[in-house]
Amino acid sequence: MLRLSNVSAGYGAVTALRKVDISLEAGEVVALIGSNGAGKSTALRTISGLIRPTAGTIEFQGEVITNLSPEQIVARGIVHVPEGRRVFPRLSVQQNLTVGAFSPRAHGKEKATRERVFELFPRLYERRRQLAGSLSGGEQQMLAFGRAMMAQPVLLMLDEPSLGLAPIVVEEIANAIDYFRESGVTILLVEQNAELALSLATRGYVIETGSIVLSDSSDRLLENPKVWASYLGEQEWEFADGDPAQAANT
Ligand SMILES: Nc1ncnc2c1ncn2[C@@H]1O[C@H](COP(=O)(O)OP(=O)(O)O)[C@@H](O)[C@H]1O
Ligand SMILES: [Mg+2]
Repeated sequence: MLRLSNVSAGYGAVTALRKVDISLEAGEVVALIGSNGAGKSTALRTISGLIRPTAGTIEFQGEVITNLSPEQIVARGIVHVPEGRRVFPRLSVQQNLTVGAFSPRAHGKEKATRERVFELFPRLYERRRQLAGSLSGGEQQMLAFGRAMMAQPVLLMLDEPSLGLAPIVVEEIANAIDYFRESGVTILLVEQNAELALSLATRGYVIETGSIVLSDSSDRLLENPKVWASYLGEQEWEFADGDPAQAANT
């Protein structure tokens, strides 16, 4: 349903994505993992139309969307929750949700979806009249998710939803991602937290300095010594007995 073919993009003279191939089937949860500065956010911004690719093609549901505007891309159901959970701090929780429903896709579904958001995140309901700026980091992330739900996503792109959150809040975020998956939304999950991302996704891509260097099932990535060494365990790490898969499990 989403296919990036040979996509390159960057910022002026800086190339941040190099000939990237990524594809998602409908209903899949796919992780994109990589360290800070690898190009993860750039990939999402390029799909959203915030950055124009310098080469390559992006297709969504059989249509080439490479040169569409961000508004046209949102209108097709690609919803991007950016890094740093940008909510509108001076609007109430409820008003933030209403803003999420601006897209034509969302018309007529606002009330029912708001009820689902409040079911999923009872804390948002309790605080519905509170200014978003007064929420905790975890609550702001829930609100960012809620706002994304209001837009009726077909493809949801989440940029580091767990960043800076306490483990207990991360668990709630993980539940919310599962909820989206169960309701049939396709998800591209960007994380530095590879363990979390691969526990939620069935497949993953690893990006390093703008290039996809690995692509495999989550299970196999979790056992891959290279992934283990770079993104999961200690940097200095030795094979216990020469069998990488065995060693990765110890
Ligand atoms: N607005 C920008 N202007 C110039 N360079 C940028 C900008 N945003 C990101 N970059 C550069 O692009 C590369 C990829 O960044 P980014 O996609 O944000 O990585 P990630 O999300 O994986 O941490 C980095 O080298 C970063 O410094
Ligand atoms: Mg980023």
